[in-house]
Amino acid sequence: MDKELMKKVAGQEAVKYIKDGMTVGLGTGSTVKYLLDALGERVAKEGLRIIGVPTSNRSAKRARDLGIDVKSIDDVDHIDLTIDGADQIDENFQGIKGGGVAHLREKIVAINSDRNIWIVDATKMAKNLGSFPLPLEVTPYGSTHLFKRLDDMGYHPTFRTNAKGGHVLTHADNYIIDLNLGYIEHPHELETILNNMTGIVEHGLFLDVVDMVIVGYEDHSETFD
Ligand code: 5RP
Repeated sequence: MDKELMKKVAGQEAVKYIKDGMTVGLGTGSTVKYLLDALGERVAKEGLRIIGVPTSNRSAKRARDLGIDVKSIDDVDHIDLTIDGADQIDENFQGIKGGGVAHLREKIVAINSDRNIWIVDATKMAKNLGSFPLPLEVTPYGSTHLFKRLDDMGYHPTFRTNAKGGHVLTHADNYIIDLNLGYIEHPHELETILNNMTGIVEHGLFLDVVDMVIVGYEDHSETFD
C-alpha cells in the first residue's frame, strides 16, 4: 500500500475544483503538500490567478515558493473554498484534525469558507472516530490542572512532546494535549463538553464542516459530496 501515492491522487483530484479568481483556504499537512504542488503547476502553466489563505507557516512558505499569492485571513473579505487534509473521517463525514498542530487556524479558515473539501488517503476513513487521538490546543497556563481534569474524566490525555521531551508548541505558542479515546460514541456530546472547558483554546473535532471528501487510492479517487 503506497500511502504517498494515495495522498498525491487525492491532492491532484482536488486541484480541479479551484477556479480562476478564487480565494482559497490552503490546509496543512502531507496531503495538502501534493495539492500545493499541483496548484503551483496550474499557476505556472495556465496563469491561474488565485489568492491562497494558508493555515500554517509551513503551507504559506510552500505556496509562496511555488509562486502562489498568499494573504492572511484578516486581509481577505471572504474565502470561496478551503481544501485541507484530515486525520480521521467517520461514515457520517465528521472528522478529527490537528495531527499537524494546525487545527485552530484550520477551523477558523474552515468556518469562514463558503465551501470545504477534505483530501485524504483511503486509510483515514473509519466507521467511527476515536482511534486517532483527539488533539486539543490548550493554554500553557493551568495546563497541568486541565490535564488532571481530563484524566479524571477518563479521556486518557497525553501532552504532545517533541524529540527533546519539550512541549510541542502551536502557532499561538500553546500546548497540545491528545485525548486517547479509542472510540467516540457521541461526537456532538463530546464537542459540547470540550467547548465548555476553560483552558481549551480549540479541539480537533470538526463536525458538520465538510462539503466534499476526496479519498485517494493508488490508482483512482472517490468523491463524496
Ligand atoms: C494538521 C491537520 C492535517 O490536515 C492532518 O493532520 C492531515 O495531515 P496529513 O495529510 O499529513 O496526514 O489537521 O493540523
